[in-house]
Amino acid sequence: MTVHFIGAGPGAPDLLTLRGRDLIAACPVCLYAGSLVPEAVLDHCPKGARIVNTASLDLDAIIAEIRAADQAGLDVARLHSGDLSVWSAMGEQIRRLRAEGIAFTVTPGVPAFAAAAAALGAELTLPGVAQSLVLTRTPGRASSMPPKETLVNFAATGATLAIHLSIQNAAQVVADLAPDYGGDCPVAIVWRASWPDQRIIRTTIAGLASAIPEGVTRTALILVGPALAQEGFGESCLYAADYDRRYRPQSANSPWAEWTDGDD
Ligand SMILES: C[S@@+](CC[C@H](N)C(=O)[O-])C[C@H]1O[C@@H](n2cnc3c(N)ncnc32)[C@H](O)[C@@H]1O
Repeated sequence: MTVHFIGAGPGAPDLLTLRGRDLIAACPVCLYAGSLVPEAVLDHCPKGARIVNTASLDLDAIIAEIRAADQAGLDVARLHSGDLSVWSAMGEQIRRLRAEGIAFTVTPGVPAFAAAAAALGAELTLPGVAQSLVLTRTPGRASSMPPKETLVNFAATGATLAIHLSIQNAAQVVADLAPDYGGDCPVAIVWRASWPDQRIIRTTIAGLASAIPEGVTRTALILVGPALAQEGFGESCLYAADYDRRYRPQSANSPWAEWTDGDD
């Protein structure tokens, strides 16, 4: 028996990996985080599967479901939104499974920040503008932040920020970011990226708090940084005509000449 943790993507049911889809189809038990995982993903479950929305369960109850499946010899598909590497609560479940000697696998999913960037048609790391992306959040009712992981500290880097779980803290976000980024720095709010009712709000740090329309709550990402302007950046060396590289050596004397097979 194996528990398959599967990233269910940002909302659109077809933003699921083929591996994830096939695992869901092969598991007679499916536990899904119902607050964000789209119900349409459950269409991949086999007929007669036990399907449990874990939104109202605590950790003990979730592990009890897994234990029962283990005793019955039934594989479990465990679905969380986006990817499992960020804010999925997978870590605490895996710790329990390890303690109980239950096998598991992890299948990645499309994270919300990637779906939001796609909705914007934006590259978040532009040459000469930003080469780092910080996935972060502000403190919430259930989660405090480690003391050094503050927006003020991240702002000092000037990197692109993808601020999760924070649309309700917009005023604090502005207060923390304005000193380093400046009030004119571009901001994009993407609500329900990839959902049919997806919304995009483009604003600035100064305008952020007043730009959030009624109803844009919870499932929203705040992207901040000069890269959001998508202008004022250079071209990468990688595709420059005169850039000597392994797949495009510029002469027979190039250190890369012996590496290429001439296909590209
Ligand atoms: C508990 S976290 C889950 C993150 C998820 N594991 C991921 O890989 O993106 C939930 C937060 O992710 C963001 N989020 C998740 N899905 C989203 C979507 N479709 N559009 C915009 N933001 C989303 C929001 O900031 C939301 O508050």
